[in-house]
Order: sequence, then structure tokens, then C-alpha cells
Amino acid sequence: MSTPHPLSVWAQNVSPSPTLAIDAKAKALMAAGEDVCSFAAGEPDFDTPEFIKDAAIAALKSGKTKYAATPGIEPLRVAVAARYATEYGYKIAPSQVVVSPGGKFSCYLGILAVCNPGDEAIIPAPYWVSYPEMVKLAGAVPKFVLCDDKAGFKLTPAQLEAAITPKTRLLILCSPSNPSGAIYTRAELAAIAEICVRHNLYVLSDEMYEHLIYDGHQPVNFAMLGAEVEKRTITVAGFSKTYSMTGWRLGTLVAPAPIAKACAELQSQMSSNATTFAQYGALAALTEKAKAVAALTEMKTAFDRRRKYLHAELNKIPGVSCLLAGGAFYLFPNISSFGLKDVEFCAKLLEREKVAAVPGSAFGAEGYLRLSYATSDEIIAKGVVRLARFCAGLKK
Ligand SMILES: Cc1ncc(COP(=O)(O)O)c(C=O)c1O
Repeated sequence: MSTPHPLSVWAQNVSPSPTLAIDAKAKALMAAGEDVCSFAAGEPDFDTPEFIKDAAIAALKSGKTKYAATPGIEPLRVAVAARYATEYGYKIAPSQVVVSPGGKFSCYLGILAVCNPGDEAIIPAPYWVSYPEMVKLAGAVPKFVLCDDKAGFKLTPAQLEAAITPKTRLLILCSPSNPSGAIYTRAELAAIAEICVRHNLYVLSDEMYEHLIYDGHQPVNFAMLGAEVEKRTITVAGFSKTYSMTGWRLGTLVAPAPIAKACAELQSQMSSNATTFAQYGALAALTEKAKAVAALTEMKTAFDRRRKYLHAELNKIPGVSCLLAGGAFYLFPNISSFGLKDVEFCAKLLEREKVAAVPGSAFGAEGYLRLSYATSDEIIAKGVVRLARFCAGLKK
């Protein structure tokens, strides 16, 4: 009898998501009766609006329970195209839209569609945890560029130029950013876009948090920065964050026709269509605009209040400094003055004070914490007091 072969390089090399792992650990402690303050969540603490649920229930009851067209039900692709036209003046055909089982899968399809084995993909750090793993699963090579708090966590044109090699095929951008909450201005994106066009790079523009922006910032659609930019841009967005539909698993990808077609074909072999009746819920989110705006406004008002509060409280803690991020639902304070690795900092924080936070190194930026304020005002208030006490203990 021979021993079974080792698992594939794909299976051996993939790292499990650290954010999901910490969230799971915090939830397990809570289930065991511990009073945990978790800042680890990557999802809104609001339920999906009722009108969206009702639309999906109606679809389910009326028999929308079969396979659907791989790239999405036609009315949803039409509605996604219409919303890009209305929100950004980005005019696309419904055939350029691919609806996938989650924005995560949309990102993966986009990467698979344009990266060959050995190609390089530039990923500004801090980055969303899945990008490097997806690039590696495509056989390509992630090239990280550290963008620290002094740079507002944003890639500069000079950094991008310096990172480009003849093998660079793709730049992955995320604005508003998970984990830093940073938002690029239109001028900053235009400068990056000009370089991408000049070096003929594709751009995966992850706009998952486009509607969660504060302080009067306006969302920018990267593809709309010029005709040459549009030809090279894959836009990912979805329903998870804007409509609090994380468990529904619905994401969207918009790209030039040949890329969208390739993504649909890849999806046809990897997952088939996103859940059919769930897509009818998403359709309601896009077409019942007044209800959608009301739900989003309520959520954003709460996030904005918490963001300002948490930011002010963090900056009162000696040794902690935190930028006021303009988007998403995360703050990314710098804790490097404590002289502890961030992984150790987070482990001790959970152990001593029952506060869950994700270390910056999980996102490629050592010396920071990612704190999600997609949790109640009470937990934020209690958690920040504990964090302050923990930090004071470290300073002694
Ligand atoms: C930056 C970013 N992109 C994509 C996604 C994927 O979202 P989904 O839950 O729709 O797969 C997430 C979710 O955390 C995210 O933070």
C-alpha cells in the first residue's frame, strides 16, 4: 500500500482568511459566555432591509428555484448597467455585467481572466486579505507596495512607477479601502490611471464600499477616468456591504466585453449562476430606489457617528494614533509605539481584555490594528475603554 500523494501546491500554499479566523474566535468566546467586544467583523451589523427579503421570498415562492443564466438573470444585469449609467455616467451594455456568488468570487474571476502564470500583480498594502491568495491561485506573483499612514495608506504615482516591471500585468486597487478605510481622490486616481495606461496594465478596481463614504466625499468609478482606462478596468462591486447582504453571496463585475465574456465562461465551469432567487432580492435593491436609499442612509448615519466617536477616543489613548478614514466601516490605528508585534498585541488584547481586533500584518502592514465599527455603539464605547486600559498597562 502506498501513501496518498501530498495535496496540491494550491491547497498547500493557500492561507486561510485571518479576518474570518479572528471573527470566529471572538464568536466562539462569546458562545462560551465571555463578554467579548469584537471589532473584527467585516459585515454591517444591520439586517438586510425587509423589502429585499420580501422580493427574494416572492421569487422563491413563485418557483425561481432553477438554474439561471450563468452571468446573472437578465433584469438584474440590466439594472446593474442602469445604475452605473445613473451614478457615474458609465454606459455599459448588460452583457458587460457578470453577477457572481459574492464579490470575492468576482475579484477572483477578474484576476483569472487577465493574469497568466508568472505575471506580476501590484497590490498596495495594507490590502484586503484575499487579493494575494487569489493572485497566487492564478499562478501569478503578488508584488506588494507598502503605503503607510504617513501616505494616508494610499499608493503614490512614484511608488507605482517604481514597482512596475516588464512582467506587471495587473494593479489591484480598493477605494474605499478594506482595511484602512482610505479613499483616493479623483485626482489621485487619475494620476494612477495615466501610469496604468502608459504601461498597459489592467486594473481590478474593487469598489465594494463605494456607497459607504462620509464627509461629503464623492465615489469615483475608476473606469470612467478615460476611454483607455475603461478598456483596461475590471470593476468589482456588490450587494454585501451597501445593502447588508453578506450572506446572500452576490457580487458584480463589470468589464470590457471580451473580459466579461471570459469571466462568464470561467464562472460557467466553476460555480454556474449565483443563487437564482437571491438575485431577485438584489434586483429589488436596485429598482426600489426610495426604500434602498432610506435603508442605506440609516446605516450610514450610524456608521458615521461611530466612526467619529471611535476615531476621537483612539487618539486620546497615549501611544495610539489614528487617521480619520473617509470610507468603509474600518479605522486602522497605528500601535507601533508599544514595541509589540501587532499579532502579539491582538492576542494579548483578546486574552486580557476580551477585545477582538485584527492585526495590521494580516493585511500586509505590521504595526496597526483593523477596527471595524460595524458593531453597536455600546460595544464600541466599552471596547475602547478596555483598549485604553490595555495600552496603559503596556506602557507601565
Ligand atoms: C474589499 C472587499 N472586496 C470584496 C469583498 C467581498 O465581498 P463579498 O462578501 O460580496 O464576497 C469584501 C468583503 O469583505 C471586501 O472587503
